[in-house]
Amino acid sequence: MHFLVINGPNLDLLGRRQPEVYGSTTLPELEAQIADWATGMGVEVDIEQSNSELRILELVHGFDGDGIVINPGALTHTSRALADAIAGVGIPVVEVHISNVKARESWRAQSVLADVCVRSVFGRGVGGYRNAMRHLVNRASVPFETVRYGPHPDNVGDLRRGTGDLVILAHGGLWKEVFERDLTESLAVDLAKRGYTTWNLEYRRVGNGGGWPASGHDVLTALETIPQLATEHERVVLLGHSVGSQLLMWAAPRSSAAPALHVALAPLIDLGETVRSGDVGAAECGAMLVQGAPPRLDPAGVETVLVHGDDDEIVPVERSVVFAERHGLEMHRTGCDHFSLLDPSRPEWDWVLQRIAAKEAPAE
Ligand code: DQA
Repeated sequence: MHFLVINGPNLDLLGRRQPEVYGSTTLPELEAQIADWATGMGVEVDIEQSNSELRILELVHGFDGDGIVINPGALTHTSRALADAIAGVGIPVVEVHISNVKARESWRAQSVLADVCVRSVFGRGVGGYRNAMRHLVNRASVPFETVRYGPHPDNVGDLRRGTGDLVILAHGGLWKEVFERDLTESLAVDLAKRGYTTWNLEYRRVGNGGGWPASGHDVLTALETIPQLATEHERVVLLGHSVGSQLLMWAAPRSSAAPALHVALAPLIDLGETVRSGDVGAAECGAMLVQGAPPRLDPAGVETVLVHGDDDEIVPVERSVVFAERHGLEMHRTGCDHFSLLDPSRPEWDWVLQRIAAKEAPAE
């Protein structure tokens, strides 16, 4: 695959431009990172920066590769010409913003490009360029349809149809608006390549109407929508990461989905304990708990397996040890950090695949 990454006006100032907003990485450092990430993904990449709208239009017109990642700077909010160019070339384009444009001045929350881009990644620092490229790789590898389960724009999930069991994925990210379903997308794609049907869920998050309890209700509604997906499957398997597992664990026993298995990756299950222990900052937790806190959860009849890394810097592995002991659950303790469990090239994923396929625990 061949991508073009474009940085627009003022991004040449990265490193010295409002570092409290955009961080300290300079443009040459960012470009070197983008090149490394592309190499790691097996992708060829051209990287350009320009302060000129004309030049950017010409770059978009002249590229005939597989995808474009663009941080258009302030052109995001004004350039109908750029929107027309993106719509006109018919190449998938992902819009990236280093800062959280939704949480700054109101005019920055508006993108005239959002409707013509396949995704918008924002508020994830310079790492957002990597997420954007990975999404372009993933969306090209297995076809999907985005299936709606409710009225809010985020009441959707990407459905990849196979012939095997149906795996429902719920991503984590402390229910923050900036973290989206691209987090679990590589796992969904890997499962789909193996023949599973996967539905990678989005849900409302803090900043766009979510948090507790709305995020929980969204996932419950999604589980109730399974019959409308019209998929043939023997079993429903839940695959949650971090605080996504909490939503699945709350919703599953309240739904008619009757999942055969829930694999909870580095789960953040007990928000009350999280607040007491200070694992996650009180301000973050406070933002999540919009109206009270979720009840203390219980796997309640759903076979549940916890997978947790000793080097988890977000949710300590002890939280899963205690939860597994309390409820007599199977636990696979491994040596990785919080986010490695989202990487299908890691050995932890082989264990998860075996666990999903075998109807019982594989040998350690
Ligand atoms: C930006 C956000 C825009 O509003 C701003 O004009 C930029 C950078 C970002 O990366 O966060 O130049 O796109």
